[in-house]
Amino acid sequence: MRILVLGGTAWLGSHIVEAAVQAGHDVTALARGESGGPPEGARFVRADRDDPGALDGVAGERWDAVLDLSRQPGQVRRAVDALAAPTGHWVFVSTASVYADSTTRGTDESAELLPALDADVMETMESYGSAKVACERFVLDGLGPDRALVARPSLIGGPGDRSGRSGYWVSRFTRPSNPEGRVLVPDVPDQPVQVLDVRDLADWLVRCAEARTAGVANVAGPTHRFADHLDTARAVAGFTGSLEAVDEEWLTAHRVQPWAGPRSLPLWLPREAVGLNAHDTSRAVDLGLRTRPLADTLRDAAGWQQGADAPLSLGAGLSDAEERELLATRDAERR
Ligand SMILES: NC(=O)c1ccc[n+]([C@@H]2O[C@H](COP(=O)([O-])OP(=O)(O)OC[C@H]3O[C@@H](n4cnc5c(N)ncnc54)[C@H](OP(=O)(O)O)[C@@H]3O)[C@@H](O)[C@H]2O)c1
Repeated sequence: MRILVLGGTAWLGSHIVEAAVQAGHDVTALARGESGGPPEGARFVRADRDDPGALDGVAGERWDAVLDLSRQPGQVRRAVDALAAPTGHWVFVSTASVYADSTTRGTDESAELLPALDADVMETMESYGSAKVACERFVLDGLGPDRALVARPSLIGGPGDRSGRSGYWVSRFTRPSNPEGRVLVPDVPDQPVQVLDVRDLADWLVRCAEARTAGVANVAGPTHRFADHLDTARAVAGFTGSLEAVDEEWLTAHRVQPWAGPRSLPLWLPREAVGLNAHDTSRAVDLGLRTRPLADTLRDAAGWQQGADAPLSLGAGLSDAEERELLATRDAERR
């Protein structure tokens, strides 16, 4: 197959290109080149999709499949306008952040969406979900229901995860911040957690392109309880220390952020947001999604964080100093 990946140079995009090349396809990646080039074996077309005529270099060719990873409605609209006619099948990588309700667990594809962003450019991540809703519409309207797949991933993890979320717990259990080996964890044992390995997602997306799979599908890793996620991370790290479990109110009062980012406990979600990482993925499983064991994803994410390719500071978690200070506060409150 002749496959065009719009944005095949960053994390998921590179894995898609690699999976498609390995499957024997003729792959072209189009991007600016700011995230580097695509993996070996793919042709690279350098273009800025915000420039008029950015797609001129690929619009004259016939594509069996286009895979697009953009979050900018204008880029997606222009791509559909330029490439829908000469393309057999379209796969758009959206997000599970398109849903209006973030509290309910087990949301399927029929749930209400956020309003579509009424602009070509998403200015901040605040409007990420709405921007992807607008992108989805351009794809589904432009290609029709039989020629497009809209994939809505929940959290993606594994090697190369610069957000630091999927590597944090194994890394923390491997190197506790304190000599006693205590680790601060959120006291949310039953909170659902879904992590989908980037390699499994890329493999599934390429197989969907090959099979011309159409429709809309949530796509996420298997649902684990937070306690089981931590147990898996502990086992991978060989951790034998103790856990200091603290509740949501305590964490909020001590300015610890949920989910991601600095001074956070990654993957923990406040009660009203647990639906953000607990989607119904039965459709994707029926469509052939295969997932590797969670331990492999967490081990490889943490391993990558220690390696030479990782940035010096990753985006999520508590620093050693922050964790030590929080544990000391906790001990002082007990006295
Ligand atoms: N991380 C998660 O947990 C998560 C969850 C749900 C969904 N998603 C979705 O998964 C996808 C992740 O993709 P990714 O990992 O490959 O990273 P990404 O940062 O979303 O990829 C952006 C790609 O588009 C290219 N690009 C950006 N601006 C461009 C422009 N103006 N013109 C041409 N190309 C441009 C980038 O390359 P250059 O910089 O070289 O141009 C890069 O290849 C996204 O669609 C994201 O919304 C992620």
